[in-house]
Amino acid sequence: MEKSKYTITAALPYANGPLHLGHVAGVYLPSDIFVRFLRMKGHDVAFICGSDEHGAAITLRAKKEEISPKEIVDKYHTTLKNAFNDFDISFDIFHRTTTEIHEKTAQEFFLKLNKEGKFIEKKSKQYYDQQFEQFLADRYITGECPKCGHHEAYGDQCEKCGADLSPTELINPKSTLSGNTPVLKSTSHWYLPMDQHEGWLKKWIKEGIIDDKQQHDPSKWRKQVVGQCMSWIDGGLQARAMTRDLDWGVPVPVKGAEGKVLYVWLDAPIGYISATKQWALDQGKDWKDYWTGDRKLVHFIGKDNIVFHTIIFPIILKEFGELILPDNVPASEFLNLEGDKFSTSRNWAVWLHEYIERHPDKIDELKYTLTSIAPESKDSEFTWKEFQAKVNNELADILGNFVNRALVLTQKYYDGKVPTIGTPNAQDLEMIETIKSAPERIANLMYNYKIREAQNEAMQVARNGNKYLAENEPWKVIKTDPKRVETVMHIALQITAVLGNVLAPFLPNTAEKIRGFLGLDMVDWDNAASFELLKAEAMTEKPSILFQKIEDSLVEEEQNLLKASQKEKVISHAPQKELTSFDNFMGCDLRVGQITAAKKVKKADKLLELTVDTGLDQRTIVSGIAEHYSPEEVVGKKVTVLMNLPPRKIRGVVSNGMLLMAEGKDGELSFMLPEKNLPNGSLIG
Ligand code: MF3
Ligand code: ZN
Repeated sequence: MEKSKYTITAALPYANGPLHLGHVAGVYLPSDIFVRFLRMKGHDVAFICGSDEHGAAITLRAKKEEISPKEIVDKYHTTLKNAFNDFDISFDIFHRTTTEIHEKTAQEFFLKLNKEGKFIEKKSKQYYDQQFEQFLADRYITGECPKCGHHEAYGDQCEKCGADLSPTELINPKSTLSGNTPVLKSTSHWYLPMDQHEGWLKKWIKEGIIDDKQQHDPSKWRKQVVGQCMSWIDGGLQARAMTRDLDWGVPVPVKGAEGKVLYVWLDAPIGYISATKQWALDQGKDWKDYWTGDRKLVHFIGKDNIVFHTIIFPIILKEFGELILPDNVPASEFLNLEGDKFSTSRNWAVWLHEYIERHPDKIDELKYTLTSIAPESKDSEFTWKEFQAKVNNELADILGNFVNRALVLTQKYYDGKVPTIGTPNAQDLEMIETIKSAPERIANLMYNYKIREAQNEAMQVARNGNKYLAENEPWKVIKTDPKRVETVMHIALQITAVLGNVLAPFLPNTAEKIRGFLGLDMVDWDNAASFELLKAEAMTEKPSILFQKIEDSLVEEEQNLLKASQKEKVISHAPQKELTSFDNFMGCDLRVGQITAAKKVKKADKLLELTVDTGLDQRTIVSGIAEHYSPEEVVGKKVTVLMNLPPRKIRGVVSNGMLLMAEGKDGELSFMLPEKNLPNGSLIG
């Protein structure tokens, strides 16, 4: 049977910032592993990526950094490209959507579809910022989400609940340019009537069938992907504008459309095609071979990109004609970091390029960890502790240990020469069978996009190797039965050779090192475990250590670095109060005090009656903290006391003063403790 051909894409990252580990674990690493595997399997593969350089994501970033959009995309395209390169992601091309070939390709798509009446041109009222004289699409507008109430939902999407929105649905809309409330103004745009495509889309997603032809195997699509598509479709598809009033993007190539550009989600996925065109040109190939005929198109993406790749882009591809639709869209869930979501704005992230700078010798260690926690079917979490555990307990103790033992013993007993296999016993044969069948098991998982399990299956070969040596104890048997040890070591070395192949998609550097120790080249996947890779008498090398253990100090440093570089959550605080006088302030008697007793105030949920040692006296203060603190937990606390407020009767109790508290955005309260343990009564001011 002829082998399937593949065109594999990885979501084009916006050229508005660097990559963090969440992007890597969800999209770029799994796609790279899959592609490396396919290449070893002998499939014809094109692996396409590039930077997404249009849209509000770019112009808003440019505004923030006070440089032009062009400077932004030039800067971050380079950052992205270098990071991918250093991390050894094996794209065939990493292109850009601000190139001429892309602009032409995107316009060609628009023109063809427009000419064939696939769009609907219509006038509508859209929000407009009068101060900036600009229409406000997508991220240019924020407001309250009508679905979940989130306060900073964008005009196209609520990042909190994932709802797909249009600007006019937002409650209390605000321009992100001026902060003003926008006005409605009439403008005309080209819409894709997605509602007209509901019928075939449904059948295609659920059953994989278009025009009575089986296009893909729906059982191979991830549940959450199908679920998200169906909930969109069942919610009723609506016409969606494919153009925008913006001055950054691919110009709409039609007379009278000055000042309008293509919607970034129309232009960006076409970027996969224009990137393929550029690559084909460079290679003397024909791009059409990669987008037509008998070929599997696979989009690796994050879950926030699902509908664009399973509904909107497929409509465009189908309407354009001749082009293939995706065979699968393996979307990943999200990766969290040390107990919290990755957040660019708060800088709660491990940035790939910074990781590489700090640990240039630990690339495969990161790949291994990220794949073993890959958020394939549910959100998962990266922690530095887990990283340490994976490297130390799995890579070093299992894989590293096995390879090292096999090679060191070979040096010791045979000066590095591979011994001959004698007569394997029943257990040997069983082990050989297990190892020989590993590539097929791994392949099955791979073809089903279970990359995390596939890596685990590849590591199982090392586990088995370790077990084999531990059970056969060549270091003991050598004294009594050296012939038997030759067989054991021969098998152990063949297992090592297998590791040099089956780990190659996941840990390319390590696998290459292992093959290097054995003087072997990489072989096709189907020969990865042939047990004839090493010939008796062949020379092996003295091994170097594959993985250094991760010290606790590294974990601590990384955790501290993360905390130290974290920015405060961006929230709007109450505005500054009017100026007060110096005398007013000096008139306040503030002191260090200590709570010595506390009880609830009857029939008042919010109040605690506190006894406070102020250094001058023990006094009663009533404080509205009962919903945040229990009486038991406040006794003994050092506090800041405002002493000279006039006494006030609260619920029948006379309160003599007030405790200073800080209040967070969500109403959480905090005592203001002195940083040093000063005696009660110490003056503050
Ligand atoms: N830039 C988008 C993001 O980061 C992904 C674009 S994928 C493509 O979410 F299909 F449009 F290229
Ligand atoms: Zn919402």
